[in-house]
Amino acid sequence: MTVFTEETRERAREIIARYPADRSRSALLPLLHLVQSEEGYVSPAGVEFCAEVLGLNKAQVGAVATFYTMYKRKPTGDYLVSVCTNTMCNVLGGQEVYDTLAEHLGVGHDETTADGKITLEHAECLAACDYGPVMTVNYDFFDNVDPQGALGVVEELRAGGRPMPTRGARLCTLKEMAVQLAGFADERDGAVADGGPGEATLRGLRLAEQHGISVPGFDPNTPIRSKAEADKAAAEAKAKAEAAKPAPAPEPVKPAAATGSTAPDVKAPDDKSPQVRTAETRQPDASTAVADAPGTKVPTDSTAPAPRDAQAAESAGVAANPPAGDGKPAGDEAGAQQRNLKEAEAGAGANGAGPAVASETGVQK
Ligand code: FES
Repeated sequence: MTVFTEETRERAREIIARYPADRSRSALLPLLHLVQSEEGYVSPAGVEFCAEVLGLNKAQVGAVATFYTMYKRKPTGDYLVSVCTNTMCNVLGGQEVYDTLAEHLGVGHDETTADGKITLEHAECLAACDYGPVMTVNYDFFDNVDPQGALGVVEELRAGGRPMPTRGARLCTLKEMAVQLAGFADERDGAVADGGPGEATLRGLRLAEQHGISVPGFDPNTPIRSKAEADKAAAEAKAKAEAAKPAPAPEPVKPAAATGSTAPDVKAPDDKSPQVRTAETRQPDASTAVADAPGTKVPTDSTAPAPRDAQAAESAGVAANPPAGDGKPAGDEAGAQQRNLKEAEAGAGANGAGPAVASETGVQK
């Protein structure tokens, strides 16, 4: 296993500390960006590292890492060029931009140039349709690109330059961007204040101004504060809110027990969460601990599966389902579905139910 640097391990501890102790697995997404910042992609060693620091098994980490396209599964170039080819951008020429870059660079989707500088990919909607066609370089936007403009950007990158995106901070490498995506500030001088929103983004604001619509106290030129300043302001606001709280009302005096009262007993409300009350109503005899109910503890008795057990189960599952060898998940090899259907038919026959008839889609008729 690759030994991650002590700096990365320290950052991993910092990320995990952002989450409640019993919710540490929520740190997985930024941790995957963190390991990507060191190796340029999420390697098997990166998956193992995340599993180790979070007490998960590798299958759990892998399931997340393979779900999101921002986690790369093979070494990626210094600059990830993503061209939107979704509907709006496509109509405006996005596919032409992508095809021109692919031909010029000699690479296809998710491939990297021989010099290791550029990885090209076509992307689904990049949420900037009002600037289409758009492309991003390490997730920074180049708006309203055309084939020649896109070629100019990649050539400047290959020559060692750092062209300014249309909006946002100046370009950094993909590894540097992964540090930011893991939740750490861009340390470059003035980078946070680089660039500004584009005119199309501000269009709603301009219309609101024209029509005299305003949000009290909103200032579009509010400077971006550092984290320390933001934390200090939040602490001051909290202290102010605490000070402004009204004094607690005095305890109501309990009426003396009335002898012979005919008033019906009123049950005091409990402080259980709605999920727990619903579970108790449905299954009055069952234990009703609900993991996500505020204030409810997840049971920690000895029957809870330990990560070691889960890993053993994972190994057994992988052994029984060899990988297809073409990037498909284990158990997805050709013929597996047919075999399963045959086994199901044999089982049904043995039970006297006669052979079941399976359609091509695997649905039994
Ligand atoms: S379709 Fe390209 S950004 Fe939305």
